[in-house]
Amino acid sequence: MSSLVPNPLALAEQLSELGYVTDAGLATALFCAVRLPQPLLLEGEAGVGKTQAAKALAALLKVPLIRLQCFEGIDAAEALYEWNYPRQLLGIRLAESQGGLSENSLFSRDYLITRPIMQALEHPGPMPAVLLIDEIDRADEEFEAFLFEMLAESTVTIPELGTIRALVPPVVILTSNRSRDLHDALKRRCLYHWIDYPDLDRAIRIVRMRVPEAPEPLVAQIAGAVEHLRLLPLQKPPGVAEAIDWVHAAELLGLNILNESTAQATLGSVLKYREDQELVRTPGMSWLPDA
Ligand SMILES: Nc1ncnc2c1ncn2[C@@H]1O[C@H](COP(=O)(O)OP(=O)(O)O)[C@@H](O)[C@H]1O
Ligand SMILES: [Mg+2]
Repeated sequence: MSSLVPNPLALAEQLSELGYVTDAGLATALFCAVRLPQPLLLEGEAGVGKTQAAKALAALLKVPLIRLQCFEGIDAAEALYEWNYPRQLLGIRLAESQGGLSENSLFSRDYLITRPIMQALEHPGPMPAVLLIDEIDRADEEFEAFLFEMLAESTVTIPELGTIRALVPPVVILTSNRSRDLHDALKRRCLYHWIDYPDLDRAIRIVRMRVPEAPEPLVAQIAGAVEHLRLLPLQKPPGVAEAIDWVHAAELLGLNILNESTAQATLGSVLKYREDQELVRTPGMSWLPDA
């Protein structure tokens, strides 16, 4: 591991070869997450590359990305493990026909269905799996509390089986769009990094990497336009993902550069609220750079 990820700079270069652009802060945070290892909480607006950071890290380490997408109401059965009831029932029937089964054997490893967190802990190594706990802010607060043990100790406790310890502690990346504040106790167990919108140069680099076939003036113009749009009082300011989508659409239409009418026609790639579209459709569209 130390030869694969010797320092933040080398990590940044390798991620860049895989198409993921970092800055010194993010590269250092990812480096520490891998090498300490300590769970890393990435916060930022939608589309700034939080999920992609975990994907790129897994690609770099050449290990599986094990992803847990959070949602309202998610619980341990979806995140950790579940007892396989149909199989347990079959086990009971079989045992009845054969003259009996001890209750314990119904709660053995054979009857367990593993979910992402458990899969990450049981990843055989030698390299750690990357466990992405995506959009943790969508889950309920109780679910956060449920993660504490795994985050702090890389273990989980199953009442019927006891404590299960990770063979190789996974690299854990949590992401949040900050739709609500997370528990201090969760933050205490994690490294924290806020991913900001990229500056213009970095935005251009990212879009070029994702859409290499697009004309350079178009990429620069769209990256500039997105930066300008973000200054307007929009309901949903566009992120990097929207810039990439916009360039894809313009490229598909064979455009080398946007003018007022083609910018208007392709606005659906970047603004997803009717009110936002109306706000920017002002005469002159001063947010659209010439080239
Ligand atoms: N730093 C970056 N380097 C490369 N691609 C990026 C970067 N940031 C964002 N992207 C691209 O933007 C899109 C949205 O990124 P994503 O990780 O899904 O955002 P988030 O999870 O923060 O909402 C993806 O297509 C991703 O590849
Ligand atoms: Mg995401």
